[in-house]
Amino acid sequence: MAVNIPHHIAIIMDGNGRWAQRRGHSRVFGHVRGSSRVKGIVREADRLGVRALTLYAFSTENWNRPPTELKVLWRLLKKYLQREVAELDRENVRFRVIGELDRLDTDVREVIDSAVERLSGNSGLQLTFALSYGARRELCRAARLFAEDCESGRRHASEMNEELFRQYLWTAELGELDSVDLVIRTSGERRVSNFLLWQAAYAEFYFTDLCWPDFEPRHLQEAIQDFSSRERRFGAVGEKAVRDPRSRSDGATIARGPVAKI
Ligand code: FPP
Repeated sequence: MAVNIPHHIAIIMDGNGRWAQRRGHSRVFGHVRGSSRVKGIVREADRLGVRALTLYAFSTENWNRPPTELKVLWRLLKKYLQREVAELDRENVRFRVIGELDRLDTDVREVIDSAVERLSGNSGLQLTFALSYGARRELCRAARLFAEDCESGRRHASEMNEELFRQYLWTAELGELDSVDLVIRTSGERRVSNFLLWQAAYAEFYFTDLCWPDFEPRHLQEAIQDFSSRERRFGAVGEKAVRDPRSRSDGATIARGPVAKI
């Protein structure tokens, strides 16, 4: 089946805690299982030709969780990066993080910085983790940075437009890939939860009742097939209702069967 592969997919990996509690386990067990899902989804996105994948791993609101849960989350994140960095490098994956990184502990920052540095020369899948991330914080920060540039004389208020504003966001380095095409949220919740509010302005949304620890590569394929069936008009009608100017329709194919073997 021929499908259009979204350039940029962003995933809200929700439902770890509920997944575990429904099975009589502690919430942190859900995070352990959830973190083990990340590798397969990254590989599948890469294999399908997705160019950017952003994973919402920790929100600004998540700081309000019990210290034991926070400890486990950061440990899992460090472990993931330490374990996977070599393979990500082999796969030519570039890695970035967005969010209020100065709030992270030094040991976590060190592991992140080392992975970012090691993968910085790669040009394949652009993998981004949103950590201590909140879109409102991101937008306020962008406004503040622009105001500072105006105060110092580097910019003038009349210069502000969408193109310039994007350059003040945490996603600026993604260039034209900063716009999200498809947002996936697991666990049955249908909220955007302060995630990429600017970047997802014209994104399609895909919600699944599966909790993140149950989300497998084949479910990513289903989400992409669903995306592919949607008509994206970007607010226009008729002739002008072209697809995303960046979109490609090269007949990229999601093969059924062999995919499951990866
Ligand atoms: C939502 O589940 C998930 C999180 C807050 C964190 C996501 C973290 C991981 C998948 C593990 C570590 C990440 C990486 C990238 C290795 P929840 O706890 O909010 O679930 P609930 O809504 O059922 O309570």
